[in-house]
Amino acid sequence: MTTTRLWRTVTTARLWRTVTTARLWRDLTTTAPFGATLRGDTAMKTIIEPFRIKMVEPIRMTTVAEREEILAHAGYNLFRIPADTIVIDLLTDSGTGAMSAEQWAAMMRGDESYAGSTSWQRFESAVKDIFGFRHVIPTHQGRAAERILAATLCGPGDVVPNNTHFDTTRANIEATGATALDLPCRESADLAAVHPFKGDIDLEAVERVLEENSGKVPFVMITVTNNGGGGQPVSMANIRAAAEIAHRHGVRFYLDACRFAENAFFIQKRTPEYAETSLIDIAREMFSLADGCTMSAKKDGMANIGGFLCTNDAAVARHEEELLILTEGFPTYGGLAGRDLEAIAVGLYEALDPEYQQYRHASTGYLGKHLTAGSVPIVQPPGGHAIYIDAGAMLPHIPKEQYAGQALAIELFRHGGIRSVEIGSVMFGKRDPETGAETYAAHELLRLAIPRRVYTKSHVDYVVEAILEVYERREEVRGVEIVTQPEALRHFSSTFRPIAAPAPVCA
Ligand SMILES: Cc1ncc(COP(=O)(O)O)c(C=O)c1O
Repeated sequence: MTTTRLWRTVTTARLWRTVTTARLWRDLTTTAPFGATLRGDTAMKTIIEPFRIKMVEPIRMTTVAEREEILAHAGYNLFRIPADTIVIDLLTDSGTGAMSAEQWAAMMRGDESYAGSTSWQRFESAVKDIFGFRHVIPTHQGRAAERILAATLCGPGDVVPNNTHFDTTRANIEATGATALDLPCRESADLAAVHPFKGDIDLEAVERVLEENSGKVPFVMITVTNNGGGGQPVSMANIRAAAEIAHRHGVRFYLDACRFAENAFFIQKRTPEYAETSLIDIAREMFSLADGCTMSAKKDGMANIGGFLCTNDAAVARHEEELLILTEGFPTYGGLAGRDLEAIAVGLYEALDPEYQQYRHASTGYLGKHLTAGSVPIVQPPGGHAIYIDAGAMLPHIPKEQYAGQALAIELFRHGGIRSVEIGSVMFGKRDPETGAETYAAHELLRLAIPRRVYTKSHVDYVVEAILEVYERREEVRGVEIVTQPEALRHFSSTFRPIAAPAPVCA
């Protein structure tokens, strides 16, 4: 792209951002019924869950005293606490959704033949129909797709730009000796600023990185939506421009497609020229711009397990299939049961159902709006799958080395039995094994991820109430220190200790 064309793309994007931003602010600041501001096209203001509940799972109501004991026993790491002691589990939206009657029915049809099963045929045909790539490689989950992709295309000295790498994407790329580079757009730096597409990649930075690292970039990637960047969406214009820049430099362009349907919904609602385009056609257009993708079907595959890797390149596909056979399985099942392939084949279409997406965004937006109304600082505007509390801003008395996000996660569990996850210096910070010196994340966030089709409005109301109560006495929340930690992905298994309250000063 010439500098003039790049400038024109950026300016047009800025213009319509101004218009949509005003509308977004209006939506955020009106306290209306569940998701009402998103609708506007029917007589009824309230958006209801577009499903009836057919099977229930009891929630065990634990007490604060019980939870204090559970926390101490788990080393204050919420990944280490038993799930049946949690009242509302917002740890992740990955693989935690409820499947539909259609998915369960399809599972009964699961063909468990080792090779060439009919379940594989249905899976492959659904993925090709929506994603449009020539080669589809099933994997047991997203990170297996990432590992195979990185092992095929990356090596020492390489550089892989992304809007923001998810932690497993980064780990898999860096395991090959390559560098995983985050290039989020400038608007994303201001957590409180409202912009319609804060998940965009910084196009000028992509151009620069490709010029400076000629021959060393195996692919450029964009993660839709940008999980590490607050669950923010990526615009079609940004995907198109990034693909164009990569291709001009002779570099492949990939999408991390985990939340492709949520991203398609954001594009439809926030881009005038896509207002009348169906979600499936928006998704098809997104993928038509890419050379391949990685996918965790535990998100917008609406399944509890599964993933896949796609490419248009036959030679790349052949190498990936060889690696697949080594660790995942034969290329027509890739570590999944036939019934899992069936659930995903149905789920991918359900994620593109406009009624479902309307409800999904309404419920996440409802949580975001009520926390905003209660002055809790969150990443604005609300993302598709999660609300991110700016724990650093909420708990300014906790210094970086005492991990405000982790401290808030612990307090939310103690107070209301709500499990969330720290996305800050515990997750992204690093300790030098030789000097012990720490590097810290840019922001100390706490993510409240909403499982798909699992919780109702009253569950969300309970979460709002608990967070507002903690917010009221936020000065009392104490920081934590790390007691033990592994070398990589430390958030999963580190143990912590709360910092003791300072002794009262005697007169
Ligand atoms: C953006 C993104 N990419 C990749 C992954 C990895 O997928 P999986 O957990 O299925 O391995 C995740 C999981 O949360 C994710 O959010």
